[in-house]
Amino acid sequence: MEYQIDPTIMPVGVVGLGLMGCSITACLLMAGHPVIAVAPVAVDLQHAAKRITGHLSRSAEEGLTTKTPATCLQQLSITEDYAQLANCVLVIECTLENLVIKKKVYEKIEAAISEDALLTSNTSAIPISILQGQVKHPERFFGLHWAEPSHTTRFLEVICGDKSDITKGEYLYAISHYWGKEPTLVRKDIRGFITNRLMYAMYREAFYLVENGYATVEDVDRACRNNAGYWMTLVGVFRWMDLTGVQAYHTVMKDLFPTLNNTTEVPPLIDELVKSGARGVANAKGFYDYTPEEAKMWEETFAAFSYEIRKLALKYPVDVVKKKVAENNAH
Ligand SMILES: NC(=O)c1ccc[n+]([C@@H]2O[C@H](COP(=O)([O-])OP(=O)(O)OC[C@H]3O[C@@H](n4cnc5c(N)ncnc54)[C@H](O)[C@@H]3O)[C@@H](O)[C@H]2O)c1
Repeated sequence: MEYQIDPTIMPVGVVGLGLMGCSITACLLMAGHPVIAVAPVAVDLQHAAKRITGHLSRSAEEGLTTKTPATCLQQLSITEDYAQLANCVLVIECTLENLVIKKKVYEKIEAAISEDALLTSNTSAIPISILQGQVKHPERFFGLHWAEPSHTTRFLEVICGDKSDITKGEYLYAISHYWGKEPTLVRKDIRGFITNRLMYAMYREAFYLVENGYATVEDVDRACRNNAGYWMTLVGVFRWMDLTGVQAYHTVMKDLFPTLNNTTEVPPLIDELVKSGARGVANAKGFYDYTPEEAKMWEETFAAFSYEIRKLALKYPVDVVKKKVAENNAH
């Protein structure tokens, strides 16, 4: 179905202005939406405007948008008042991964928005059907799962819960193309959705290899970035098997699958690390040790890389070969 979509007349609400709320807000502003950004905790007000402006400025410098930060910011209102969400056609909740907090936030959002507005959550792993149990109108509720930094990444999962109206999900899927995404529509709810299920299977195996002395953290990381990291911006796992010979995978699966780790326990390595207070580069303590300077430099390097890899990803969209074939045929 074709939808008439004009972001400039579609106000969107973002509730929760932490790491992701700020980058999602920047993405929506660059797409042309008026944005009502709600700060559920006062501390958000101290950093949100600065973070969002930083994303917009860097995006303009990197050529991600032709809009100036000033033009985008004219469309932004940062507030603690949920009532300002009244005209929003869509609200994206980005608060902490905590069911009790999310439920309280939904009550406030639903008291403010109209019945036909869409309500979504950026939850990483809470099943959408469970979140639907916390709202008054579950049919208009969806998962909208972004990847950080949301204003540069092409990833977006639109996830239906048991009670979602699929036609509204298809509409969300259509809108998200205006946000520079290459989205996926998850038609049936499953914990972890698509990518977290794939990624956590890999994390589990990585812990198994390190905890059982097959390789170090450094070796696992190096292997991972130079194998999967080399091709994954171009193709996903199925196209990769097509490219490199399906039959070999069939043979390997028979022997390898029975040996893969399938523990349901959290690995001791991460358990001990978390209990010791490690948070990763955020506090310079993780699987690697960092000086404060190195930790800051990793954050900056990741930010710079995310703009670079986006440029490469845009050169190779999902339909890159179809486009090339059409061009060849036109000549
Ligand atoms: N960080 C990621 O890479 C990532 C990726 C995908 C999805 N998510 C999901 O996005 C959501 C937000 O994650 P984040 O990384 O932006 O977290 P964050 O810690 O940076 O921000 C959390 C925000 O939650 C809000 N908050 C805090 N306490 C609250 C309270 N008591 N009541 C209401 N709101 C409160 C505040 O706005 C705060 O800024 C989570 O559900 C997370 O699982 C995160």
